[in-house]
Amino acid sequence: MLSPEQIDQFRDQGFLALEEAIPLAEIERLREAAGRIVEEFDIDAHRTVFSTADRDSGRDHYFMDSAEAVHCFLEEDALSAEGQLTKPKHLAINKIGHAMHDLDPGFTAFCRQPIFGEALRDLGYADPVLWQTMYIFKQPHIGGEVRWHQDASYLVTHPASVTGIWIALEDATRENGCLWMQPGGHRSPLREIYEVDPDTREGTLRTLDDTPWPGNNEAVALEVPKGSVVFFNDHMPHYSSQNRSARSRHAFTLHVSEASADWSKLNWLQRPGLGLFHL
Ligand code: FE2
Repeated sequence: MLSPEQIDQFRDQGFLALEEAIPLAEIERLREAAGRIVEEFDIDAHRTVFSTADRDSGRDHYFMDSAEAVHCFLEEDALSAEGQLTKPKHLAINKIGHAMHDLDPGFTAFCRQPIFGEALRDLGYADPVLWQTMYIFKQPHIGGEVRWHQDASYLVTHPASVTGIWIALEDATRENGCLWMQPGGHRSPLREIYEVDPDTREGTLRTLDDTPWPGNNEAVALEVPKGSVVFFNDHMPHYSSQNRSARSRHAFTLHVSEASADWSKLNWLQRPGLGLFHL
């Protein structure tokens, strides 16, 4: 399904955007599935905030357990200093993660669309397996920034084999916090690694290389319409700003690896109870 030019672009630039590649009816079904999860979420039981501002030091058991569950995380700015919710629940959630593809039939059906497996095979995968999914809300006015990072810092395989797939569930613009990437940046070194001690479940983010993150003149804004899909290499530096606009910017992500590559035992995400999800 991908043209030779598209495959070359992915190899050369480190990412490939397919505009409006997902039928809008599929987008709507996924949004409804996410809405049902939010509806059932007991906000008083789990007040875990997802923020990247603290360099991932605050990851708790609720976060770690989400590798094999469907958990909701709050926007940092949705809680007052006293810990009280300042927004209605459906406008307070930062993201849902990370095993919806296994555990929620609406998400499973979305991920089973042939476009993902076919494109990954065109990009060279023999047996792509899906490790995690995230539904990201990027809420109006408070949707948190995701600082510059490379996904290979969090999802390590030997050899490196992870690809991220990012799907716009709403039009993504500079105003509502679209993705930014550095064309060719996938050839830059891995700057950080996040490892979790399997016994204590303590996570540590270490600097591996002090190459600076891309400046404004090196990064491009991926302003794409709803239904677009972006494939990107695990060494690609990427970032999204806080959403200060009045519009949300829902997105859905999948992260896959080659089944034959070794999944690091120090990755925070381990799925002994779920096994491999082949695409
Ligand atoms: Fe990322």
